[in-house]
Formats: sequence, structure tokens, C-alpha cells
Amino acid sequence: MAEHDAGVTGGLAFPELSVPAAGRQAELLLRPWRAADVPALTAEMSCGYLLGGMWSAPGERPFRTVLRGGPERTGPIGEPDAVRWIASQDRGWHDGDRLCFAVLEAGQAGSWVLAGNVGLKNRDETGRIGERDTAEIGYWTALAARGRGVAPAAVKAVTGWVFDAFAGTSLRQIMLVHDVDNPASCRVAGKSGYRFREFSPANPPHWFTDGHIHIRLRG
Ligand SMILES: CC(C)(COP(=O)(O)OP(=O)(O)OC[C@H]1O[C@@H](n2cnc3c(N)ncnc32)[C@H](O)[C@@H]1OP(=O)(O)O)[C@@H](O)C(=O)NCCC(=O)NCCS
Repeated sequence: MAEHDAGVTGGLAFPELSVPAAGRQAELLLRPWRAADVPALTAEMSCGYLLGGMWSAPGERPFRTVLRGGPERTGPIGEPDAVRWIASQDRGWHDGDRLCFAVLEAGQAGSWVLAGNVGLKNRDETGRIGERDTAEIGYWTALAARGRGVAPAAVKAVTGWVFDAFAGTSLRQIMLVHDVDNPASCRVAGKSGYRFREFSPANPPHWFTDGHIHIRLRG
């Protein structure tokens, strides 16, 4: 997989978004994942939490664990898996159907430390972003960076970017879905300007838990 700084693939420029520091949230830099992120991603994923929906396309997802009566995906486990996961994000940018940003926070002496991930896909997981009226946003924050407002700042930045970058397309709204037993994510939705729309009951085998759907409209 090629390293990329500013470049263009599949007609889409690789963006770099910066978010100034605010309160406890350090300055953030958001950019597509790179091969150089493998060690940090592997270390973070070794923390062991499950991250359903992290993989780019259904065929790329390993099914490893059974939770709540159905198959659940995990995030990449180990370096080869992390390499494969980052390659699948690269493919997502290239094909335009999955746009995932690594979220880095300013560390000591000009360094940048992995602080999380924010990704966009179409709700039905087919086609390029901008071809449907609804995209879906997903995110996680590294364990050591939680509770400082990283996720809402990153989600706001990516939301602003995608509405700008895909102005003039079919994209009209972004959906944010979280489990009902994930109040931290519900707070992220609220702080990022995603209004609660409706309760979403579990619908196995597609999803296995009750959730909330939040929506942010263009404009
Ligand atoms: C949900 C998640 C993304 C929040 O990210 P974050 O960068 O910590 O976001 P915030 O700092 O705004 O915190 C959100 C809420 O988490 C709770 N929180 C605060 N400190 C926390 C900590 N140290 N650890 C965990 N949660 C904390 C609070 O309820 C906070 O809301 P508040 O600011 O109104 O009190 C993060 O907990 C996470 O990655 N969880 C696992 C993956 C996940 O659930 N992703 C979302 C799937 S829909």
C-alpha cells in the first residue's frame, strides 16, 4: 500500500483536517490512515474492545466472536490484521465507498499520537459516498484519549468536511447509530449536532442490539 500525503485517488483528494485545541481537547489532525499507523493501531486494538463495523466491506470482515446471539466483527487483532485493515481503508478511499480518518492528537515536542478513528460509509454499504442521500458515521477514541472531547471534535470536523466535499451530490444527511447501552456515544452524538431521530430495535441477523438513530442534516 502506498503512503500518501496530499494526493488524489479515485478523483477524491486526500484531505487533512485540523481542529484547534479547546479545553481538555488537544489540537487534532485528521487524515486517511497510513501504513505507518500499523504499530499504533495494533497497540490500541490489543486493548481488546470490540469494534463492530470497522471493516470496509462485508467480504473483508472476519467473524470471530459471537455476542448477544449473533456474529459480531472485531477490530484488527495483531499486526498482519492491522496491515490488512489499513489496506482496506486505502481501498475505501480509492473506491470512494468508505472514507476513514485516523485522528491524531498533538503530543510532546511536535509529535502526533493516535487518538481515534472517524469513518463514513453509505448506510446500505454500497456505492460511493455522494451517490446516496444518507451516509453513516462511525468512530472510536483510543482508551488513553477518552473523556477529553476528542470524538465530538473529530465527528464535527468530518461532518463539515463531507458536506463541503460532496456539495452538489445526493448527500443530504448523515446518520449516527449507537447501542442504547452506549451513553458515551449518545453524548458524542448530542455534542456533535446529531439530533435523536428514533429508536432502532434489534434486527438480527443485520444488527443485534437496540439502538438510537441520530441525524445531522446538510446545512
Ligand atoms: C464513545 C466514545 C467514542 C466517546 O469518545 P470520547 O472522545 O471519549 O468522547 P467525549 O470525551 O466527548 O466523552 C463522551 C462521554 O463519555 C463519557 N466519558 C467521560 N470520560 C470518560 C472516560 N475517561 N472514559 C470513557 N468515557 C468517558 C462521558 O459520559 C462523556 O460525556 P460528557 O462529556 O457529556 O460527560 C469512546 O468512549 C469510545 O471509543 N468507545 C468505544 C467505541 C464506541 O463505542 N464507538 C461508538 C460506536 S456508536
